Amino acid sequence: MLSAARNETLTRVGPGTPMGELLRRYWHPIGGASQLDNEPIKTTRLMCEDLVLYKDLSGKFGLVDRHCPHRRADMSYGWVEDKGIRCNYHGWLMNETGKVVEQPYEDLTSGNPRSKENCDMKAYEVREMGGLLWAYMGPKPAPELPVWEPFTYANGFREIILADIPCNWLQCQENSCDPVHFEWMHDNWSARMKGANANVAAKHLKVVFEDYDYGLIYRRVRENQPENSKYWTVGRVALWPNGFYLGHHFEWRVPVDDENTLSVAWFFMRVPKEREPYVQESVPTWISPIRDANGRWISSHVINQDIVAWVGQGTIADRTKENLRSSDIGISMMREQFLRDMQAIKEGRDPKAVIRDPDVAKCVLLPDMYRDINLNGLAMEDLKKDRVLGPRLKEFRHHYGQPPEVRKAFVEAIGIES
Ligand code: FES
Ligand SMILES: [Fe+2]
Repeated sequence: MLSAARNETLTRVGPGTPMGELLRRYWHPIGGASQLDNEPIKTTRLMCEDLVLYKDLSGKFGLVDRHCPHRRADMSYGWVEDKGIRCNYHGWLMNETGKVVEQPYEDLTSGNPRSKENCDMKAYEVREMGGLLWAYMGPKPAPELPVWEPFTYANGFREIILADIPCNWLQCQENSCDPVHFEWMHDNWSARMKGANANVAAKHLKVVFEDYDYGLIYRRVRENQPENSKYWTVGRVALWPNGFYLGHHFEWRVPVDDENTLSVAWFFMRVPKEREPYVQESVPTWISPIRDANGRWISSHVINQDIVAWVGQGTIADRTKENLRSSDIGISMMREQFLRDMQAIKEGRDPKAVIRDPDVAKCVLLPDMYRDINLNGLAMEDLKKDRVLGPRLKEFRHHYGQPPEVRKAFVEAIGIES
């Protein structure tokens, strides 16, 4: 249970709030680079700031204020040129650093050499990695963008799935340190929806949570689980500050504002050995719907089930009314670490998991239950037998609504019948 004040401290993300300032010390995935292939300008809202994301004709990405620095017109109705984005109202042209580089009327007539001074627009750095676009919205100098090892894996089919979640980011992230829900939300509930009349999922017998340089690891033992199971020997990581890595995919919960979250998932599946070498030209990005035609939450797919839990906790979960128990130790650890991180910022130190050393950032290992498979691959026969990857050959079970063209590209990459 938390006090109302502490709940507010941990959940609010606007500029100047303690959590808003903390989250701004990290790079966040904000979408897929392929989203800008056809439409080069996209509106976005991140941590209570209205912005536009664009790709100019030279291929540079920019993330700038939604409003023009001249008289505040909506930049999403402008257009991109060789170097930057141009406002449609009076034609000012701005580049990805926010500098005004053209003011057509002034340039032609005023001759004032200082006309472009002191009118920069807000602009944040954007980089591409793993097909994702990453933004840094904090104080300079920016830390390194960590290259998590899975982004270096070769011979894989990757896809990015986005979902707009109408609730606060923290309740989504607390799910990253919640092993017991797999037994109930994913196993027993799925079985019940298919008509089961008993709770037959393997029970959790033991869960442990450990601090780790880049997050919190959880390990678990369930009924019928072999002693040397990687669920116990390796575990999974709640990646700092708002990610989750499960061995075959990442999930991030990126705050849009206090009441909305962008769910960003990045999936990797190594093609069977028989299909190597495989090079994916572009990583597809798609948006997963979360409501059905009746306005109810979609519950058929794994992450959609998680979303049912998150939005069900309320727009901003009221943690003054919760009752944590031993299965929730990881969640308490997470909250305490966030509070320590806020204190670190006050004292002028970097919070947890900020990387400044480029040698460290260029390939950061994570606890990875699938590392051997991801690095070395499996023959098709073995891939079919894998508990998680095998079913993916038949259908994408994690998010509802995979577009047929993405399935087709996957089927071609893997070399299976559609
Ligand atoms: S408002 Fe954008 S150029 Fe005038
Ligand atoms: Fe889940």
